[in-house]
Amino acid sequence: MKIVMLSSEVVPYAKTGGLADVTGALPKYLSHAGAEVLVFLPLYRETKNKNLPLQKAVDSLKMEWPAQTESFSVWKHRHDSLSFFFVEKDEYFDRDYLYGTPKGDYPDNGERFAFFCRAALETLKAMGFQPEIIHAHDWQAAMALAYLKFNYAQDPFFSSIRSLFTIHNLAYQGIFEKDLLARIGLPEALFNMEDLEFYGKVNFLKAGILYSTAVNTVSPHYSQEIQTPEFGHGLDGLLRKRRQNLYGILNGVDYSGWNPATDRFIARNFDADNLAGKTGCKRDLLQSFSLPPEAETEPVVGMVSRLAGQKGFDLLSQAVEEIFRSGANLIILGTGEEVYQNALRSVQKKYPQRFGLMIAFDEALAHKIYAGSDIFLIPSRYEPCGLTQMYSLRYGTIPVVRATGGLDDTIQEFDPDSLAGNGFKFVDYEKIALVDAVRRAVAVYQDKERWQVLVRNAIACDFSWEKSAAEYFRLYKRIISP
Ligand code: ADP
Ligand code: GLC
Repeated sequence: MKIVMLSSEVVPYAKTGGLADVTGALPKYLSHAGAEVLVFLPLYRETKNKNLPLQKAVDSLKMEWPAQTESFSVWKHRHDSLSFFFVEKDEYFDRDYLYGTPKGDYPDNGERFAFFCRAALETLKAMGFQPEIIHAHDWQAAMALAYLKFNYAQDPFFSSIRSLFTIHNLAYQGIFEKDLLARIGLPEALFNMEDLEFYGKVNFLKAGILYSTAVNTVSPHYSQEIQTPEFGHGLDGLLRKRRQNLYGILNGVDYSGWNPATDRFIARNFDADNLAGKTGCKRDLLQSFSLPPEAETEPVVGMVSRLAGQKGFDLLSQAVEEIFRSGANLIILGTGEEVYQNALRSVQKKYPQRFGLMIAFDEALAHKIYAGSDIFLIPSRYEPCGLTQMYSLRYGTIPVVRATGGLDDTIQEFDPDSLAGNGFKFVDYEKIALVDAVRRAVAVYQDKERWQVLVRNAIACDFSWEKSAAEYFRLYKRIISP
């Protein structure tokens, strides 16, 4: 089976969040299962700076673009026996950030990612690579499906290609002014409610939902939630219409990169049979965040997160003093919106002995937090899947999560009597519910024997990609021959 994936971020080339982890790992596991997978992403400055041995795949390809004929190049990198293709268009992608600065999105994101989609399709044709499936991820790749339907429908090279559109986060839709359609070479007639119009604007994500052969999200629970007004971000009606072709497939974990026994970022390696190294990791973590060594015997709650409304930082700000009162310390690594940066900085000023904060994107430090914390907190307002709870489980760090989306699918409340379960969860998006869940975790932490059982339950959880990739494989087959 030949599959082409389009994603705006892919590990190890460019990453702002979980999308990159997923599109970095899934192709590898699909290829283990026998598929031929090509992955396309933009050539960002971040990727250029890695100085990888890239080869020219296509040189100076010409493409009709409304204002003028545009040219672009495509570079290729072989990694893990896969081919990754980078669309080079410096005026769009050679920038400091992928999507925007901390102050806001780049104003030309519509043109940037539409160009990426169209260029990827043109490249396939130029290379003569005809996939059975185009698998587009999130709004940045969604317009590929509009181009397939409206610009290439008569082209025999493309006419038999089927598609899958994956929604990693329904809140990010790619919404632009009406006049964008003409500037990206799509018929203005698409500006109607049955097509791309959405409350007076153009909505890229809608293209993915409308024009794909099938749609999926990244957990079973989220695939249900998004069909309700509460989680639908205005698209629940459309998603309900597509429910016969709407699936939920839980993301996996690439345990080759997330394994405390081999992790090169952490101070000491450890595994379920020998947990001594975890104490060394905790000591190292406390040092990295300049917290007092006495905290080694107290529970440490870690977080690694985008600082965005989705992730529950308003709730955390309300709860933080009671978390300290429960006896726990807090460590947060995050980047994102200034309002949350400032709120966290002011808490940190007040409680420097209890709260370690780093406003940065730092892969090594993230691994240290998964390994060295006792508890991992994810108080999300909504969470399509969530990878960080699955990573912390493997490092024997116990998740405390809000019961939503993939968090609800992956975490089962620990029962101190039966000793079953892998974490703690709360339902209401309220301070008291969050604090109560942290207290339950701290209470079990104080009971060393039970805590050991819980840590072993956590490490034993298996979210390997093999299982999820097999589900994608089945879905591709269903798409090809319904
Ligand atoms: P989302 O994609 O919504 O941000 P996920 O839980 O799916 O949430 O994935 C987040 C990914 O980004 C994880 O790999 C996590 O380790 C990583 N991450 C988030 N913030 C940071 C940060 N500040 N530094 C390093 N890694 C981060
Ligand atoms: C999104 C979601 C997150 C999910 C990730 C990868 O960024 O917010 O929950 O894990 O995509 O699918």
